[in-house]
Amino acid sequence: MKTLVIGTGGREHALARALSLDPAVSEVHAAPGNPGIAAVATLHHVDPLDGSAVADLAERLGVGLVVVGPEAPLVAGVADVVAARGIPVFGPSGEAAQLEGSKTFAKDVMAAAGVPTARAHTCTTPEEAAAALDEFGPTYVVKDDGLAAGKGVVVTDDRAEALAHAAACERVVIEEFLDGPEVSLFAITDGTTVHPLQPAQDFKRIFDGDAGPNTGGMGAYTPLPWAPADLVDEVLRDVLQPTVDEMARRGTPFAGLLYAGLALTSRGTRVIEFNARFGDPETQPLMALLDSPLSPLLLGAATGRLADVEPPRWKSGAAVAVVVASAGYPESSSKGDVISGVEAAEALPGVHVIHAGTALGGPAGDDLVTAGGRVLAVIATGEDIAGARASAYDGVNAIAFEGAQHRSDIALHSSTV
Ligand code: AMP
Ligand code: GLY
Repeated sequence: MKTLVIGTGGREHALARALSLDPAVSEVHAAPGNPGIAAVATLHHVDPLDGSAVADLAERLGVGLVVVGPEAPLVAGVADVVAARGIPVFGPSGEAAQLEGSKTFAKDVMAAAGVPTARAHTCTTPEEAAAALDEFGPTYVVKDDGLAAGKGVVVTDDRAEALAHAAACERVVIEEFLDGPEVSLFAITDGTTVHPLQPAQDFKRIFDGDAGPNTGGMGAYTPLPWAPADLVDEVLRDVLQPTVDEMARRGTPFAGLLYAGLALTSRGTRVIEFNARFGDPETQPLMALLDSPLSPLLLGAATGRLADVEPPRWKSGAAVAVVVASAGYPESSSKGDVISGVEAAEALPGVHVIHAGTALGGPAGDDLVTAGGRVLAVIATGEDIAGARASAYDGVNAIAFEGAQHRSDIALHSSTV
């Protein structure tokens, strides 16, 4: 089968790489891709937000599966256009992607499905925002209601900062603070059957010790030895299946990847957020440990036949991803800085490099250069988290570019969280 992956980032590189290793996949195409994806797929120039252009490309290539990676094309309805041409597409409809596109919509679905989440108010005026902040008290949590790539959230004890963020957004969701460790639990679904993946953990803040502003994610690892043994069963029963069932009941079935961002609080498991696509960077270590071929799972979800596909199997051991970001991230990013050491990192045992914001540039146009905030991630597998972590940091230390920044504590406290 030929496949086409839409997107440019680390998640798309990890998915395209997994598809390239799948014996059932004859060709991997990607649009628009990046220099890392070019090593595992044939790249095409197509605007990922242009559904007709994506569907035209898929028809011209004769692909049997289109995978839409990022949230923006999903919310824009790109999967709908591809599906309307009769091409199997992994990714929810624009309506179903509102689970990520609107936090208010997600809260409404969770309330209807009885899914445990933080109490929240949607506010559109400074007065409403102030009242909601005072109702819940510190620590304050203020979220932009629309798509914000994980960066529209301010969590702070400073009431003035919380109010300022509310004023800067048109519509905000203000909610109670959830304590406890965070878990990212992904599930592949066709709208009826739900196959959860192994839990992973993401590191959202820019600096060590979870200091500084939120980012798209600075690192991740899987599995989580400290998580309760029945976590996946519990979340499937109390969160994933009820949400999928509620979306079907509304006539907007959710098929694709349902990402539950969870807090394991002192009062039980709560949903922090849903996303409508694979998480980045959690997908990178997950794909490194996935033992089943990826394409049957994605195709089963795309065609309503997931019940016929075996749940995913996992390799033993652990995988750790450490993101290397460019100067200025997350407030800004630096473009065009020459990157060295990727080959040296990949020569280390059990290590590979996933490209996120890279491009070809420099005087001859053939240097690998930075082209975004999160530039690349070093992924390592190992017998346990400590081993995978040590290898990932060996890889990070081999890579250099002007202003490169990374966290040094990814997966560090993984057995004691
Ligand atoms: P979101 O975009 O909703 O995933 O939020 C981004 C990050 O902000 C989450 O991963 C959490 O670290 C933090 N966060 C969001 N909501 C809450 C909450 N209610 N309580 C505590 N932290 C939160
Ligand atoms: N890792 C966070 C996200 O993908 O939104």
